[in-house]
Amino acid sequence: MKLEPLTAVLSDPEATHAWGQRLGQVLQAGDLVVLTGDLGAGKTTLTQGIAIGLDVRGPITSPTFVIAREHPPLGNGPWLIHVDAYRLGNEIELDDLDLDTAVDEAVTIVEWGAGLVEHVAEHRLEVILARPDVDGPDQTRTVQVRAVGARWTTDVAHEQLAALGA
Ligand SMILES: Nc1ncnc2c1ncn2[C@@H]1O[C@H](COP(=O)(O)OP(=O)(O)OP(=O)(O)O)[C@@H](O)[C@H]1O
Ligand SMILES: [Mg+2]
Repeated sequence: MKLEPLTAVLSDPEATHAWGQRLGQVLQAGDLVVLTGDLGAGKTTLTQGIAIGLDVRGPITSPTFVIAREHPPLGNGPWLIHVDAYRLGNEIELDDLDLDTAVDEAVTIVEWGAGLVEHVAEHRLEVILARPDVDGPDQTRTVQVRAVGARWTTDVAHEQLAALGA
């Protein structure tokens, strides 16, 4: 069964946060999320929701000079590694970032990561945020998800992802 790319409409920041929370409940140790979207598209807002869904310690901030932040689990779940690759021009070697946590024990979310981090894991979710009314008052964002790799080919994973499109 092939999973079609899925789309959801996020009408305001709260909707983006809530959708992120639902996504966070699906993510497991070893998962990589490559987060794409223009400045202010809502990548950090989405990550804040994911952190709630994962149940990790906040706060999730926009890393300005810090490339990566690590958020420990509050329960038994995985860590969250939150990376902002905006200033990085080359492929990232997460090994070079002196992380305390191994990527296979954490959920790794990389803002601006497209083209830079795919080598980090054998599978990933590509999450693309867009702002259809970029110059107008409408706050709506759309989110598209594309799943890559065997991790996302099971029936369970398909059901979980499909539910995010609803
Ligand atoms: N539907 C929406 N979803 C998410 N954020 C929204 C939405 N509508 C308005 N916003 C606002 O847009 C801004 C998004 O900021 P955020 O830091 O999440 O974006 P970002 O993509 O991480 O930006 P950057 O590229 O600077 O890292 C926030 O001020 C948020 O309140
Ligand atoms: Mg951001």
